[in-house]
Amino acid sequence: MSTPHIKAEKKDIAKTVLMPGDPLRAKHVAETYLEDVEQFNSVRNMLGYTGTFQGKRISVMGSGMGMPSIGIYSYELFKFFDVENIVRIGSCGAYTDEIDLYDVLLTEKAYSESTYANVQGGHEGEYTYPDRELNERIEAIAKEQSIPLRKGVIHSSDVFYRENFADYKQIRDEKGAIAVEMEAFALFHNARITGKRAAAILTVSDSLVTKEATSPEERQKSFTKMMEIALRLA
Ligand code: HPA
Repeated sequence: MSTPHIKAEKKDIAKTVLMPGDPLRAKHVAETYLEDVEQFNSVRNMLGYTGTFQGKRISVMGSGMGMPSIGIYSYELFKFFDVENIVRIGSCGAYTDEIDLYDVLLTEKAYSESTYANVQGGHEGEYTYPDRELNERIEAIAKEQSIPLRKGVIHSSDVFYRENFADYKQIRDEKGAIAVEMEAFALFHNARITGKRAAAILTVSDSLVTKEATSPEERQKSFTKMMEIALRLA
C-alpha cells in the first residue's frame, strides 16, 4: 500500500501515531524512547518510524509545518493506513502572559481563519475539536505523571510572519486563544471526516507577549515532559 506521500505497508504503521512537525524530531523520538524500531517512510524525508514503548506498539512521523502539510499526511494515515489516533506533539507561541515558556498545553479546541476544513469537506465555522476521550486520557496520564497541563483554545494560523504583529491580541481577545501554532485545526477536521481521533499536545517555545524564546537545551527539557505523556497513549 503506497500513497503519493507515504511508501509503507499498512501493517508497518501502528494504530496510534505521534506527529511532531519536524521529521528529525520523529527520528529523535524513535531513537530515544522506542525499542525494536523500524523506519516506515522516507518519501520527501518525512521520516516515520514504528517501535514499542513499554511493550506497546506506537508510531511517530513528521507532519511538516502548516495545515496543507499535516492535512496531507494525517489524511493518508487515517484513510489509507488504518491509523486510528493521531496526536500532534508540537510547539506553540503564547498569546497571554498567564502562560510561561515550557508550559505544556492541551488543545481544547482549535480556532482558525484557514479555509482548510471548508475547502476539504464543507466544514462551516471557525473551530474544530479534538477527540474528547483522547483528551481525557491525556489529562489522566498527565495527572498520573504529575505533569501540569493547561487546557485552552489554540489558534492554528496559516501565517508565521505577520506584517501586523499585534493582530494576535484581537484573536486572543475575540476567540479566547491562549497560544498559536499552525496545524491542529486541519488535523482535527481530518479526524472528524474520516471517523478517527486526534489530539494536540503543545509545549510553549516562545511568547508573543514578552517576545522571549526558549533555548534549544531548555526546549528539549520541556519536550521531554510532553513525551512522557504522549508515549503513554500507546
Ligand atoms: N507562531 C506560529 N506557530 C508557532 C509559534 C508562533 O509564534 N511558535 C511555535 N509555533
